Amino acid sequence: MTDSFNPRSLLVTGGCGFIGSSFVHWVVSNTDCNVIVLDKLTYAGNPKNIEGLPTDRVELVVGDICDTKLLDRLVPQVDAVVHYAAESHNDNSIANPEPFLKTNVEGTYRLLEACRKYDKRFHHVSTDEVYGDLALDDPAKFTEETPYHPSSPYSSTKAASDLLVRAWHRTFGVKATISNCSNNYGPYQHVEKFIPRQITNILCGIKPKLYGDGLNVRDWIHTEDHSSAVWTILTKGRIGETYLIGANGEKNNLEVLHSILEAMGKSQDDFDWVKDRPGHDRRYAIDSTKLMTELGWQPKHTDFAQGLADTIQWYRDNEDWWRPVKEATEIKYAKNGQ
Ligand code: NAD
Ligand code: DAU
Repeated sequence: MTDSFNPRSLLVTGGCGFIGSSFVHWVVSNTDCNVIVLDKLTYAGNPKNIEGLPTDRVELVVGDICDTKLLDRLVPQVDAVVHYAAESHNDNSIANPEPFLKTNVEGTYRLLEACRKYDKRFHHVSTDEVYGDLALDDPAKFTEETPYHPSSPYSSTKAASDLLVRAWHRTFGVKATISNCSNNYGPYQHVEKFIPRQITNILCGIKPKLYGDGLNVRDWIHTEDHSSAVWTILTKGRIGETYLIGANGEKNNLEVLHSILEAMGKSQDDFDWVKDRPGHDRRYAIDSTKLMTELGWQPKHTDFAQGLADTIQWYRDNEDWWRPVKEATEIKYAKNGQ
């Protein structure tokens, strides 16, 4: 038995980031729901990501999810909060964990308190990294039953935020759901992340950089499929439940890099091996049977080569979007030997 929910208005936190903005586009294109985006516009947030959307349906409020006065103003105006805002990059969390504690843990707590106060539905967007990692030769995948075992400051703060959501549901009756998704790719992803970093390196004449032995496996999903899954869970998911989101996209980093090099006309060895990430998770893999069988969700972007080619084309066509932040991102990596 699923719960049915038909929201007319949403507060989307982090809606100027990579995945949050994809969700805002998805909601505008596929539903009648109106959206307030609450985004602090950190280095990772860009208002261009939601530019051109109808202003009578999407309003941007620049602010912090830790600002309780602001939440007191915004949360009563909507039917539900969909919570994407986070510090999201593992390497940054190793260099400086503090903002991760503040936004990912305190920010989630503040939103939960506001949803409790105003009796609002809450959907928490989380990551498969809360489960730690799997061995390369292990046939297992993560399920909703897998014990939490996060490795990095980023994933441990996301795990903490998931546990807060579970506690606020059980103790205070907050009407919450949680989703844990695998690695997203697609347009509008910050150039600090693996796939856009390598594409934009090649476009800048810099060699792609591969960590460690390159055999770490990630389970890739197109961000539009993540968005349709979150909408499905928000509107049909059972309150108090967790759903894993994935699209059977396991590939190791070397394979992904080879695909990028081939698609961009470069030879297969035209990249640098660089220092590994401390604590680097070996493999992620998602079993999304529950989401597929209980809620009937299916991914649409099942051809990774095509999705990657479209993503490469997007970065070719949108240099003015990524150029302004590319140099600073590479300087940060270079200081770290990566
Ligand atoms: P991102 O870094 O691209 O965007 C994060 C957004 O949150 C930015 O717009 C930023 O300005 C905003 N933000 C940060 N701190 C804020 C604060 N205190 N108040 C308000 N806004 C704030 O991240 P992303 O990759 O789009 O990830 C979005 C969410 O999805 C995160 O919760 C992340 O944990 C989760 N997730 C990401 C992936 C992935 O592959 N990128 C996979 C699974 C889950
Ligand atoms: O699994 C979901 C998670 O995926 C999300 O929760 C995170 O927000 C998101 O950033 C992502 O985390 P990863 O650490 O897996 O993503 P990242 O793009 O940083 O790295 C992907 C893989 O590529 C990882 O094994 C590290 C490797 N890598 C990364 C960079 C930036 C390289 O080999 N070279 C690089 O230059």
